Amino acid sequence: MKNFASGLKKKKILIFGAGFSGNQIAKEMRNIGFEVFTSSRKVKDDKWSFLYDSNNDDLPSDKLFKDVSHVLSCMPPNIDGSDPLLSKLETKLLSLDLEWAGYLSTTGVYGNTFGEWVSENDPVNPIQERSKRRLLCEEKWMNTSLPTQIFRLPGIYGPGRSTLDSILKKNITVIFKKDQVFSRVHVSDIANAIIYLIQNQNKFNFYKIINIADDNPSSQIEVIRYSYKLLRKKMPKQIDFEEAKKNLSPIALSFWEENRRVSNSLLCKELGYKLIHKDYKSGLKHCLKHLKLTN
Ligand SMILES: NC(=O)c1ccc[n+]([C@@H]2O[C@H](COP(=O)([O-])OP(=O)(O)OC[C@H]3O[C@@H](n4cnc5c(N)ncnc54)[C@H](OP(=O)(O)O)[C@@H]3O)[C@@H](O)[C@H]2O)c1
Repeated sequence: MKNFASGLKKKKILIFGAGFSGNQIAKEMRNIGFEVFTSSRKVKDDKWSFLYDSNNDDLPSDKLFKDVSHVLSCMPPNIDGSDPLLSKLETKLLSLDLEWAGYLSTTGVYGNTFGEWVSENDPVNPIQERSKRRLLCEEKWMNTSLPTQIFRLPGIYGPGRSTLDSILKKNITVIFKKDQVFSRVHVSDIANAIIYLIQNQNKFNFYKIINIADDNPSSQIEVIRYSYKLLRKKMPKQIDFEEAKKNLSPIALSFWEENRRVSNSLLCKELGYKLIHKDYKSGLKHCLKHLKLTN
């Protein structure tokens, strides 16, 4: 990755919603010389963090927005379907001379493709209420005149948030559902793909919607089996989905109602991004290394 600190004017990014992905992106953008400020809903004793909660009226100070070149939102939609950033700060963002604005969305907007591949060119068809709210936010972002890129993400995992952690916390049910697959992305690939696109913004066509997913959608049981193997633990007996669903929460159940393979062809073939973790095996080995380092 190129480093902006060497010669070029320093770039400044505000990341709204520094949760799992936002924090990783912040870390990697600092590594390439960006000045990075991240939002939180709770006060933090850290000069790089600022308060932002779309549910109250306190807005960040004008000083924070001085010389901002990039903005990224990693926040889920508000419960009424409004966007937590644009609903409060769209006018402010439009008044800045932004080079780029990013929005993390979900592949849930594609709905159920019954296991078929789905790309950015396919129509959206959200079936879950949360995915309908997401689509409303995407539309808001598409309709601003900001230089926006929307990233549609499948299940996000990485160090501290993977099946390895779920197994160790004894928070896992081994469910089998025939022909069901899930797409995934390792959090490092979200960060690196976004950095790659920002750094090559003037070189490529500017696509407004891009999927970031790995190469290998796979069944949940395959991933769980591999996780047990990495942890050298015995996998408990699998439960058939029809039996397991009686005990699943509505949110957990909703994930099993959709079956799709998310294509990364635009990102990886046309735009030339090289995945760090092309499948769950590579990603989980990375998570295991992190587990060993932190325990
Ligand atoms: N997790 C997945 O598998 C997945 C898959 C596809 C897409 N996505 C979407 O991708 C984005 C990033 O996902 P993630 O898992 O990294 O997110 P995450 O860890 O849940 O973090 C979300 C962040 O948004 C902030 N936030 C939430 N509501 C807010 C509000 N009303 N006002 C201000 N800040 C608010 C949270 O603030 P605090 O830090 O103060 O709590 C947190 O920092 C999210 O939009 C998520 O819905 C997630």
